[in-house]
Amino acid sequence: MLEKKDRIVTGDRPTGRLHIGHYFGSLQNRVKLQNEYETFILVADVQALTDNFNNPEKVQKNVKEIVMDNLAVGVDPNKATIYLQSMIPEVAELTVFYSNLVTVSRLQRNPTVKTEIAQKKELFGESVTYGFLGYPVSQAADITALNGTIVPVGEDQLPLIEQCREIVRKFNSIYGQTLLEPKAILSNAKRIKGLDGNEKMGKSLGNAIYLSDTDEEITKKVMSAVTDPGRIKKDDPGNPNICMVSYYHKLFTKSNEELEEIMKECRAGTRGCVACKKQLIKNIINELEPIREKRRYYEERPELVKEILMEGTKHARKIAKENMLRIKEAMKLNY
Ligand code: TRP
Repeated sequence: MLEKKDRIVTGDRPTGRLHIGHYFGSLQNRVKLQNEYETFILVADVQALTDNFNNPEKVQKNVKEIVMDNLAVGVDPNKATIYLQSMIPEVAELTVFYSNLVTVSRLQRNPTVKTEIAQKKELFGESVTYGFLGYPVSQAADITALNGTIVPVGEDQLPLIEQCREIVRKFNSIYGQTLLEPKAILSNAKRIKGLDGNEKMGKSLGNAIYLSDTDEEITKKVMSAVTDPGRIKKDDPGNPNICMVSYYHKLFTKSNEELEEIMKECRAGTRGCVACKKQLIKNIINELEPIREKRRYYEERPELVKEILMEGTKHARKIAKENMLRIKEAMKLNY
């Protein structure tokens, strides 16, 4: 039996650079948790291929972007282990073992998978691939290969963790107490809306500010953000509750006094939207500059980034290998 010592496993699919939605939604939390728990951060390239199998270049290119984004926000390679999924063959092996413990209809009923399949009609047509339908099984393998017990994720991932727990229980009931049942913890912040007011900030929606955006990109994006549509002339009174610029001020404008003044002047119609946007641009740049600076450090040192990922992978692999021996023994596959 394993002794239970909490270990975090979490990760991202390398399908694009990370944006401020990730920053407030999961990255800040990750940076905090690395001081409290043994932390493993997975770059889920195999999972990324489940809906990008026809675009391997995209996945490959984004592996290093994701590693750099994590390092830039303060994930510390001396505290947390960043590792690459495709270099842990035990995960693929476990996925096969676990696939006996889950039914096709249970996967089809997984709310996250169901929503994603509906969104990916263009890729999948009328019939989804075996790999995509089964990615919750491989995610269960990600977590259990390392004996992860705490999985910090966004709300959309909860059904995947629930499915992992079911697989673990089923495994233990058949092969004996071997695996630990992980629990999800929600990253504290809520989902961040897009610049266009969309409920979700997403790369495919074109409404995101990336951690690696330049001053020019940030300026252009904020300048086109959606404001109160009722405010036509500069001195019309505005309603900050329906303005994306004020929404972002609440995230980035750290001084309460400054924030109150912005809201007051907007309501009174004494501050124009352009001035308000310029102030927001300044505050976003202030917040992101240390992150960008750190990112530039790593961008100039691609060998170091690679080394961090390879060292992390070596460490994760060692744990997965040891764990695999126990799992195979439980399954009577110990030859
Ligand atoms: N599915 C997660 C996402 O899209 C990424 C992921 C893969 C993951 N494996 C994981 C998250 C294991 C937590 C634990 O964000």
